[in-house]
Amino acid sequence: MFQLFVAVAILSMLINAELQRTPLYETNSTQRSIDIDHQQNYSDKRRIIRIKLRDDHENSFFGYISIGSFPQYFKVLFDTSSSNSWILSKNCRSNTSACNSELKKNYGNSQSTTYIPSNTSFDIEYDGDTISGYLCTDVAYFDFSSLIAIQNQTFGEAISYERRKFPFSPNYQGVVGMGYSTSAITGIPFLNNMVQQGLLLRPVFSIYMKREYVFLVYATCVYINVFSGIGELILGDIDSSLYVGKLTNVNVTRKGYWQFNMKSTVQLGNNILCENDCQAIIDSSNPRISGPPSAIAVINKYIRTISPNNPGIVSNR
Ligand SMILES: *[C@@H]1O[C@H](CO)[C@@H](O)[C@H](O)[C@H]1NC(C)=O
Ligand SMILES: *[C@@H]1O[C@H](CO)[C@@H](O)[C@H](O)[C@H]1NC(C)=O
Ligand SMILES: *[C@@H]1O[C@H](CO)[C@@H](O)[C@H](O)[C@H]1NC(C)=O
Ligand SMILES: *[C@@H]1O[C@H](CO)[C@@H](O)[C@H](O)[C@H]1NC(C)=O
Ligand SMILES: *[C@@H]1O[C@H](CO)[C@@H](O)[C@H](O)[C@H]1NC(C)=O
Ligand SMILES: *[C@@H]1O[C@H](CO)[C@@H](O)[C@H](O)[C@H]1NC(C)=O
Repeated sequence: MFQLFVAVAILSMLINAELQRTPLYETNSTQRSIDIDHQQNYSDKRRIIRIKLRDDHENSFFGYISIGSFPQYFKVLFDTSSSNSWILSKNCRSNTSACNSELKKNYGNSQSTTYIPSNTSFDIEYDGDTISGYLCTDVAYFDFSSLIAIQNQTFGEAISYERRKFPFSPNYQGVVGMGYSTSAITGIPFLNNMVQQGLLLRPVFSIYMKREYVFLVYATCVYINVFSGIGELILGDIDSSLYVGKLTNVNVTRKGYWQFNMKSTVQLGNNILCENDCQAIIDSSNPRISGPPSAIAVINKYIRTISPNNPGIVSNR
């Protein structure tokens, strides 16, 4: 019922907005969303792991990881703007959205023989939403075949998820923080452990995001073309076939998330944004661009010029 409501809401948004950024893509099986590179040399334990990403009703890119013995699969957001990782628990607090319709997909610690509890509580706030629970430790995998085990991975087992804006249950089970370990409150991040345990070819990760056209049939007779996102999270390498030109190296100016100095090269019409350089962070989990109100106003105006009915995309922060 809720899904239908969202679908209808999104469809009417699309009709009003010519800039069709909202994808409608139903992920049915984990198989479709996960695909490790079968060309890899499996006798070499250190590998490159490729995780397929799709964007979804909430307009963010999702992939799958698994945790526990036997592995339980979770749809997660890979978040470069935070270092914290958590998974919704089956032992969730029933009056919060952690416990709603998708409950059976949540993490069941009693079903994992490698689960190690702790009594350390955690609390994370995102934009008014609060996630809380207890830290725990288990085996985790990013590869679909569960061959590359991350031992002793600590993360937050979320028993409460209080959503301020949207009280309904999220359509994913967790978040994997891809930021620096120094700012993590849910234990050493997955990637640091992978590097430390020698599971990756190189200590790098890369994220590839792309929009594609998909053809969808919704309800009984709604046919619509929308943009959908596809992408890949590549752990241990960068795939040069996925971009043209050269990569630009920037120094991280504040180690916490991936913050860097952005030069004033953005020109929209007669406007130059970020005139005296500005600081930027890359946020893989957020569908919006945030920035100084003056720059955001220029971007919104520009979007309306090329697409007059568009209400604008951006929040001012
Ligand atoms: C989704 O998966 C189920 C179970 O594997 C299958 O029965 C069903 O046909 C699938 N639906 C679509 C739209 O692929
Ligand atoms: C696979 O990796 C092993 C260990 O690093 C190496 O000895 C072997 O030659 C590799 N095989 C291929 C086909 O690359
Ligand atoms: C949920 O229940 C707990 C205790 O059972 C309470 O402290 C909390 O305020 C409740 N939250 C909401 C959103 O009702
Ligand atoms: C957690 O706390 C409970 C009750 O206070 C205690 O019985 C249990 O042993 C503790 N567990 C750990 C892992 O510290
Ligand atoms: C995981 O933790 C156990 C118990 O503390 C320890 O014996 C083991 O060496 C650890 N494994 C890794 C890969 O850190
Ligand atoms: C990064 O910092 C180093 C040392 O502080 C400096 O030598 C280098 O030029 C910087 N690179 C860029 C791309 O700014």
